[in-house]
Amino acid sequence: MNIFVLTGAGVSAESGLGTFRDKTGLWTRFDPMKLATPGAFALNPDEVHTFYNLRRRNLLEASPNPAHVALARLEAELGKRKSRLFLVTQNIDDLHERAGSQCVTHMHGELLKARCTACDAVGSYIDDLGVDDRCPHCGQPGSLRPHVVWFGEYPLHMATIDEALQNTDLFVSIGTSGSVYPAAGFVKQAKDQGIRTCEINLEPSDNAALFDEAYYGPASQAVADWVEKIIEVVTPAR
Ligand code: OAD
Repeated sequence: MNIFVLTGAGVSAESGLGTFRDKTGLWTRFDPMKLATPGAFALNPDEVHTFYNLRRRNLLEASPNPAHVALARLEAELGKRKSRLFLVTQNIDDLHERAGSQCVTHMHGELLKARCTACDAVGSYIDDLGVDDRCPHCGQPGSLRPHVVWFGEYPLHMATIDEALQNTDLFVSIGTSGSVYPAAGFVKQAKDQGIRTCEINLEPSDNAALFDEAYYGPASQAVADWVEKIIEVVTPAR
């Protein structure tokens, strides 16, 4: 059984990383058009760096929660049974990896990496970023930006994601409001291909009507319970 899992901010909420659209979410307190677009960065790089520097520090202090751990276990268990978990995240944190997931596709980039706008090199970057920093690869000053996808930019790895979606038996959406495309369109794409769909979220998402099954509750519990159920289903009877 091949399973495609899409995660969003809700999977990391209990690790202390903010979501975007909940009552206290990041985008209800900050204007994304002033902080998360190429135009905003061109106009005010200091402010954009400060925003992402705070998020990076927050991430470095956070730890994976039981939902991340359960998904890492699912990847390992499916791997033992000639099956596959394809894990795509909209999150820019590295909590799936720190929980033990071996293969994570970050469609919105990674907060602990920087990209050089002069030479395109992408590398690990855990310190604060500043407007005068030099690219460690080409030495150009002032050319580094967070390796994250901003509004108006195209998400990463879309061809790989599309291929995985076409080769899955089950599509599962976890902790995402289903309001940002193209990720919000994956469930419709899966359904149109006759693939079974499942949602795990605190509450029904914008796309709730498109899911064949749904589990509502905090990810730390709901994902852990669902993973145990799936492992039972894919384990041959003795
Ligand atoms: P949202 O903030 O839009 O949605 C988070 C979802 O998680 C909501 O449906 C919540 O109900 C749910 N949630 C909150 N706490 C939860 C918990 N403990 N357990 C389970 N679910 C919980 O975040 P995303 O859908 O991830 O993009 O947002 C998508 C994209 O919008 C982000 O990747 C980001 C943002 O703008 C970029 O920055 C490009």
